[in-house]
Amino acid sequence: MGDSETMMDTSSLETLLVDKTGLRIKPEMRPRLSDHVDKLMRRRAVKDLNAYMRLLGRDPNALQEVIDYLTVNETYFFREPAQIGVFVQTLVPEIMRRKSSGEKVRVLSAGCATGEEPYSLAIALAEQYKATRVRDRFHLAGVDIDRMAIEKARKGIYGQGSFRRFDSGLLSRYFDPCRDRVGGRIIRPEIRRLIDFRRGNLLEAPYPDDLKDMDVVFYRNVSIYFDAVVRKRIFRNLSKVLLPGGFLILSATETLSHDFHLLDLVERDGLFLYVKTRSEGSREAAAGRIFSPPPPIAPKPPAAPPDSPRSNADRYAEALETAATRSRGDALKRLDSLIADAPDFIPAKTLKAAILAYRDAARIDEAETLCEAALALDPWCVEAQLLMGIVAKIRDDRPEAIKRFKAVVYNRTDNWLAHFYLAGIYQAEGQNDRARREYGIAARLLEKGRFPDHGLAFFPLAFSEEQIIYSCRENIKRDVR
Ligand SMILES: C[S@@+](CC[C@H](N)C(=O)[O-])C[C@H]1O[C@@H](n2cnc3c(N)ncnc32)[C@H](O)[C@@H]1O
Repeated sequence: MGDSETMMDTSSLETLLVDKTGLRIKPEMRPRLSDHVDKLMRRRAVKDLNAYMRLLGRDPNALQEVIDYLTVNETYFFREPAQIGVFVQTLVPEIMRRKSSGEKVRVLSAGCATGEEPYSLAIALAEQYKATRVRDRFHLAGVDIDRMAIEKARKGIYGQGSFRRFDSGLLSRYFDPCRDRVGGRIIRPEIRRLIDFRRGNLLEAPYPDDLKDMDVVFYRNVSIYFDAVVRKRIFRNLSKVLLPGGFLILSATETLSHDFHLLDLVERDGLFLYVKTRSEGSREAAAGRIFSPPPPIAPKPPAAPPDSPRSNADRYAEALETAATRSRGDALKRLDSLIADAPDFIPAKTLKAAILAYRDAARIDEAETLCEAALALDPWCVEAQLLMGIVAKIRDDRPEAIKRFKAVVYNRTDNWLAHFYLAGIYQAEGQNDRARREYGIAARLLEKGRFPDHGLAFFPLAFSEEQIIYSCRENIKRDVR
């Protein structure tokens, strides 16, 4: 089996799998899927794919057999250790300060695979607080859709591959040699008991009660197998289980593609993560809140008339400064009054549109109307085109977003941001060659020091130039979807 003549048409099964799990089959995986399904069908004495599809519809165990086969469980202990360090050293103390005594810090490893991630968190906490205190003060849960991975996690037996970045001191403190597996190690019971493992599908909401009210969610290296729609659905599900002030951590290369305006991006000790802000008031004041320093403004507002003490340009500059450093609400008020006084002053419209697009998903219609008004006054206004693309991207209207970003790069070939957004959309569409090309252009422009040419006056991106270049380079290496 597996050659093109005998390969079955698995498209209906693939559709079912995307629908149920979000997982997409890459074309090169199809022969293996076909082989595997053929084996499963024979094992269950099912004659053809239609009958098998009916079986999958009524028997969750049969569906689970296919899912277990498809998942990619690649993981190891202390993956991206800097994030684990920030968790233990910075996030946990911050969370503990707001807990009453006896209240546990609740942590979820979403897509925990065979358990290396949640065990790493438990070990890192035990190093800091001793295992007994971890048991009293923390609740750690691990969830994965793959039943076999969860069984393995519960057993806690690992081979060499899981320890590829592991400190030998920790190995002897937290693992024992395993008699059942040559060269294998088994995690000590006091650490194993700290984690509550369960099988679960992150796409299915609402989550069970014991997975709610989380202070920290690690959701790393899971979304890379999903398209943008599934990514957003799971991100929304996870944001709902976070307590106010709770943190959501993705791997460094995934973080940027999750800025869906559902949670706020913040920086802690040089790393970027999402936080569920407590309220609008404290949102602006939240420690570590990221706003890039106001970059060079494009386009430049017209110069002030000599006899005007507070020109449009001055008022605009004040609004921009307020948005970037203090309160968004205050900035919007200033812009409303400026727009009312000077309806033809384009930068006020685009600045307001940018604040709404980046910081208030509920008001993107308003952002769009402002951009349309700006384009009616100046059809070549690159900032308005770029913002129209960002609005379309938030709505997941990919054709419209592509049209807008292409219009930007047509006028400004050196606008790395439009290239970067185009790359992300092409990648989500599975157009990997185009995605790689655009990531390449964005990376090269940034490497040449063109970061300030992003074309937006208000650009609250939480990433440094180096991180965006890194993200581009990493994405060039891998095909998504
Ligand atoms: C590559 S592993 C990542 C493991 C770990 N988080 C890490 O960073 O090392 C991805 C895991 O996500 C799980 N997964 C994929 N889709 C899922 C879904 N819809 N619900 C729960 N888990 C899912 C897979 O079964 C797999 O074990």
